[in-house]
Amino acid sequence: MEKLVDLISSAVSQAFADAGYDPSFGRASVSNRPDLCQFQCNGAMPAARRYRKAPMQIAQDVADILQPCRLFEKVDAASPGFLNLDVDDGALAGYLTEMRGAERFGVPLDPSPRTIVIDYGGPNVAKPLHVGHLRSAIIGESVKRIDRFFGNRVIGDIHLGDWGLQMGLIIAEVRRRQPDLPYFDDGFTGEYPAQPPFTISELEEIYPAASQRAKEDAAFAQAAHDATYQLQHGHRGCRAMWRHIMDVSVADLKRNYHSLNVDFDVWYGESDAQPFIPPMLERLQAQSLTRESGGAVVVDVQEPDDTKEMPPCILIKSDGATLYATTDLATLVQRERDFRPDKVLYVVDKRQSLHFEQVFRAARKTGIVRPETELQFLGFGTMNGKDGKPFKTREGGVMRLERLIAEVTEFVRRKTAENQLVDAGETDDTAGLIALAALKYGDLSNLATKDYVFDLDRFSAFEGNTGPYILYTIVRIKSILAKYDGDLAAAAITPPVNAPQRELMLALTRFADSLALAYRDSAPNVLCAYIYELSGCANKFYHETRILTEPDASRRAGFAALIDLTQSVLETCIDLLGFSAPDKM
Ligand code: ARG
Repeated sequence: MEKLVDLISSAVSQAFADAGYDPSFGRASVSNRPDLCQFQCNGAMPAARRYRKAPMQIAQDVADILQPCRLFEKVDAASPGFLNLDVDDGALAGYLTEMRGAERFGVPLDPSPRTIVIDYGGPNVAKPLHVGHLRSAIIGESVKRIDRFFGNRVIGDIHLGDWGLQMGLIIAEVRRRQPDLPYFDDGFTGEYPAQPPFTISELEEIYPAASQRAKEDAAFAQAAHDATYQLQHGHRGCRAMWRHIMDVSVADLKRNYHSLNVDFDVWYGESDAQPFIPPMLERLQAQSLTRESGGAVVVDVQEPDDTKEMPPCILIKSDGATLYATTDLATLVQRERDFRPDKVLYVVDKRQSLHFEQVFRAARKTGIVRPETELQFLGFGTMNGKDGKPFKTREGGVMRLERLIAEVTEFVRRKTAENQLVDAGETDDTAGLIALAALKYGDLSNLATKDYVFDLDRFSAFEGNTGPYILYTIVRIKSILAKYDGDLAAAAITPPVNAPQRELMLALTRFADSLALAYRDSAPNVLCAYIYELSGCANKFYHETRILTEPDASRRAGFAALIDLTQSVLETCIDLLGFSAPDKM
């Protein structure tokens, strides 16, 4: 379906042409003076310069031609040469009826869909998920859903941090505690036990303990390094122990991401990229794309027109170890082989922007990605506490994601129970949905690159620019529609009977524009702003219109069809944001 503003533009352009002017002056836009008109065209001003005429004269010529057009209720030429336009109420109703019947509300698919890998989540195995991982998961999930809506083939990859010293630390600490396990017996040739020698809570205690011990005990630090080396060189016992760490940790991560309504298509990790490192390095060295620098192997990525210094991308340290950048480059090799992506999007803390700039440049320079492959870094800001510092627990420690979700849910549950909003038996499920909306909308409604303050009271309020407010609007519509006596499927949207209804209808016509913008900029915040506006219109319409008690059956059906479309649009949007609405609240 064409956007309403485009239909209007075509009509106005045609009128410019019919009046003897260049049709390209006929571009219309949503009015920035909604008190005066719904749409406007400012083309008469530039046309006046081209044709050396008074702008008002041109506007009037065009207005005279547009006047009889059935699309418009009102066409005014206004000084000094604006065209102020209102759409005909019947045409508006017709447009929405078509939108309600169309697949995907008539939003066209991307005419050239791409294969897009989204690298998000990025948790580190054996370390508890903390709020720092929250933003990546929430934003990445929404961008993935939006990209998919437009027909792209999207692969969400969690890119686990499952390699390197952190693993060696854990293995060394387990060995210190349970030295008799067969994994540490080099003479052992049998089958290792299927059961891991630790639980997830033990594992989460082991990692910080090991990392602390390594700082204080040089021998232990060495043991951890040795274990890392052994793991990376295929030591059987270390590999088996690593497998256990992975299994226990990944099961826990899956549970956590599930509770966030976040899911990944592939669960690859840094470890999966390792086999690609040696051949990659070999090729780059053979093609002289690398340079030696103080014992290290690097790729220069400084470019002549750089205004700031761009340090070289280090692939091998002087001690022979490979780095974070090496793994990211090898991951691109792997992705090229597996998916041949047209675009790779990284949703990572913006403090890593230099790293990605280096990786992207190195990947281009070395031909690891094709020239046409788009590499994009979506760096997000920090979630702060009310003190303006990165969000912490009340005791000042790192806030575990699980605990944060539990606290938000409990807060909402108490509120829901106090207000007796739903039956006691449903309180928990409802609270879970509201909490998720509060948390996600609170995050997504901000520009991703900005820091924001996590404010539980504000995020979970039922009024204002919040997730629960959007859910509340949907729930209210559901309850009205449940009482509607007619056949909703057969109901047709009718011309508006009052201003709030017209506003709501116009807001619905803007869905495609907002969604397209959110897609173009990978910006879920645009969608949040849209549903906040749409919800405001829906509530105003509800307050000023007797919907169910309207005596005229055709009007009543028109109202029902309109709020039904509103509900579908809102639910589609929140699904794209990654949360959903309860039936009651
Ligand atoms: N695991 C990393 C961290 O916690 C994030 C990974 C981001 N993705 C990537 N391809 N480097 O900092």
